[in-house]
This record gives sequence, C-alpha cells and structure tokens, in this order.
Amino acid sequence: MRIYQSTNGKPYTTIKPRYNWPMLTPTEKIWHNGRFIRWEDATIHILSHVVSYGTSVFEGIRCYATPAGPAVFRLREHIRRMLDSAKIYRMENLGYSADQLAEAMLEIVRVNKMDSCYIRPIVLRGYGEMGVNPLKNPIDVYIACWSWGKYLGADASEGVDVCVSSWTRIAPNTLPTMAKAGANYMNSQLIKMEAIVNGFAEGIALDVNGCVAEGSGENLFVVRNGVLQTAAIGSSVLPGITRDSVLQIARDLGIRVIEQQIPRESLYIADEVFFSGTAAEITPIRSVDRIAVGKGKIGAITKAIQDEFYGIVHGQKPDRYKWLTPVPVGSKQPVAV
Ligand SMILES: Cc1ncc(COP(=O)(O)O)c(C=O)c1O
Repeated sequence: MRIYQSTNGKPYTTIKPRYNWPMLTPTEKIWHNGRFIRWEDATIHILSHVVSYGTSVFEGIRCYATPAGPAVFRLREHIRRMLDSAKIYRMENLGYSADQLAEAMLEIVRVNKMDSCYIRPIVLRGYGEMGVNPLKNPIDVYIACWSWGKYLGADASEGVDVCVSSWTRIAPNTLPTMAKAGANYMNSQLIKMEAIVNGFAEGIALDVNGCVAEGSGENLFVVRNGVLQTAAIGSSVLPGITRDSVLQIARDLGIRVIEQQIPRESLYIADEVFFSGTAAEITPIRSVDRIAVGKGKIGAITKAIQDEFYGIVHGQKPDRYKWLTPVPVGSKQPVAV
C-alpha cells in the first residue's frame, strides 16, 4: 500500500489505490452538507443513485494566488450554473442558498490552507431507493479542493496538438449540455480517450450537424482574419464561464466576436485556434489532425487574450470586471452546523 501525504503532513493510509499511478494529493477537509469532514471520510455507498445512474451535477472553479492572497474566479457565476444544472435535473432544493454555498467554497479553501487550488462542488443523489426514478433519493452536497496545475500538460500554454473526434457531442434533447452533469462526461471520456490513445492532447467534438462544438472539457475559439468565432450556446456546448470571460475580454480589446455554427474545415484554415476552460484556462492549439494551425504556434489574438486573462486572475492587472472573490482570512463557523 502506498502512503499519501495530506497537506498537514500526516499520512493517509486508508486509501488503497488499485493502480500504480499518481493520485490527487489529499487536502485535509471536504465540506459535506454543512460540515467539514476528513478527506478520507468523504465516501458514499455503492448503491447511491449516482453510482448506477450518473445522477450528479458539479462545478470546477479555480482559486488563484494573487498578491492580495487567494481569490476565487467568478464564484457567483459558477454557483449560478450549478444551481441551474440542479434545477434542470429537478433538484430544486439543495438545502443551501447561493450565499451559503459561496461561503462554504471560500471556507474550504481557507481551512485547507490553500494559496491556489481547484474547487469541486458536487451535488448528487445518494443512497435510498434503487431504480431510475431519482426523486425520492436524498440530495448530498460536497465541496472539495485540491492543487491542480496545467490540465493539458506542463507546456500547454505554448500550444497543444489535437484531433477531431469520431464521437459526436451530445445532441440537443438527449442530455442537456447547458447542465454540467456527471453523465455528460461519459461522452467527454470517449472523446478524451480516443485522442490520448492516438497521441493527441485533446479531442474536438462536432455537434450532431457536423459543426464544431467543443473539446471534451473546454470551449473552443477560432480566429480568422482578425475575427473571433465560437459555437453558439445551443450547439451542444457547455456555457463556459471562461468562454464568457474570453468574449468580454475580446470585445474590450476591440476584437470582433461572432457566436455561430463553425464548419469543421474552419479549423484547418484558421489563423488561430484555442481552448478555454477552468481547467485548461487559455490553451493555444498548434495543430488539428496534424495540420498546423496558422504558423503552428500561439497567435497574436490568443496571446493578447491570454495576457489579459492571466493578468487579471493572478492579480497583476486590475480586476476591472470584478471577477475575483478574495478568500477571507480568519475563522468562521461552517454553515448549517
Ligand atoms: C464540456 C466542457 N465544455 C466547456 C468547459 C469550460 O467551461 P468553464 O470555462 O466554465 O470551465 C468545460 C469545463 O468545465 C467542460 O467540461
């Protein structure tokens, strides 16, 4: 058995990996229904509804280290999207208001003493009845955080090589892509695995009409003749919060922005292509299906947007959109105890 170190230096010996590859580095605490529990106690019953039927909605949020201390990026927008996702799946009452969830997310960063981290709130249908109908199963809310570096590889900010997936993104009126639901990521996993086994960092999925949708965990932007294009909401994409941030930054930089259907071949003749996402941040794409994008390296518009984005989130440029919520120092009572 391997021994994993927690952030307080005490080893966790209770987590036994089946495979011999790196796991997350545990933090000390996870928030569960209003209480902080130990990382290793955040377990669920095998017959919880979520395990058989994928009944979860969740978020991925970054907390950045800034000169003024840790700050969470677009916290309110992430909570809003999580509540929207829950509502779509008829989880109307989580038992916590948006304000309480916001406070819990700031607290989990603080109690785990993180300078920067990735925050993962998960709402799931737990143990109770079996069968497809989830309505009688309890709703559990967890919030974890951990340290997470570059999602698409250490050199990703220089550019990644990607492919167009043979898997289609979830079609409208099948699984709703405006909801960030666990089940959607079975489709994402097919896209991702196919890309990885074929030697690419990521796959781009087309929508049911054959137009460009998004990556397995990122929105996608194409630049041609100085115009920034991205698939419209409704083209089987998640309404990404980084996507929205990119659109705001681009407009302010005087870049023309169009949300529209993007034919696949636009990827091959683009001047620039890049991904946006909480995990991937702003990641330039240097080739698609082994065809170089533009000059095969980060382009001027991607660079300008990347500089603005990283400048703001790292607190090196003014937070002119009020995107950052500082993590308060000092102790508070967890909500709903
Ligand atoms: C499928 C998918 N598309 C897009 C995104 C980007 O969304 P955001 O910028 O809100 O992280 C994500 C990441 O959450 C995702 O999983």
